[in-house]
Amino acid sequence: MPSNKYSLKEIFTEKQILDRVKKIAFDISNKYFDDPPIFISILKGSFIFAADLIRATNLDSEIDFIEVASYSGTSSKGSITLKKDISINIKNRNIIIVEDIIDTGITIKFLKEKLEKLEPKSIAIVTLLMKTQVQNLDFKIDWVGFEITPEFVVGYGLDFDQKLRNLRGIYILGGNESE
Ligand code: IMP
Ligand code: MG
Repeated sequence: MPSNKYSLKEIFTEKQILDRVKKIAFDISNKYFDDPPIFISILKGSFIFAADLIRATNLDSEIDFIEVASYSGTSSKGSITLKKDISINIKNRNIIIVEDIIDTGITIKFLKEKLEKLEPKSIAIVTLLMKTQVQNLDFKIDWVGFEITPEFVVGYGLDFDQKLRNLRGIYILGGNESE
């Protein structure tokens, strides 16, 4: 635990996460063995998940990164701007977008639509976490690590104010101080 400044309640241990990541990786390995994908990791939150996921596959895959910022105020319903674009040509390639968490779905919708314009052969989406009661998504999420309630969570790449990404488990931030 990096600090007792924060009130943290663990909801998924490192072992639970890695077990789930291995299952998803096995599924992805089977599906793409004859035409390996390019993983596109959405920075910054998904970098740890992406690292564990690709190492748990046995594919001759590639990886690239994309970064967006959503200007929000109180919710993430704001406009999205691109901070860093991909640098691999994805035309006619299988793409797997790797996201840390889907909340409203705005970010993933924006990125899927953006990448579709580059004419990949296919686009799939894997997210470690998905907040239920979300989303008016008009497409499916191919792999979801865990569904969670709408509390704010940190760890395993997910941040609060750029911090706490280094925690090995996933924690609800805030919680009850006495727990
Ligand atoms: P969406 O566009 O509302 O789906 O928001 C997705 C993005 O918001 C994610 O990529 C995260 O960066 C961030 N986010 C949403 N919920 C959380 C959370 O509980 N903890 C940390 N980041 C979050
Ligand atoms: Mg993110």
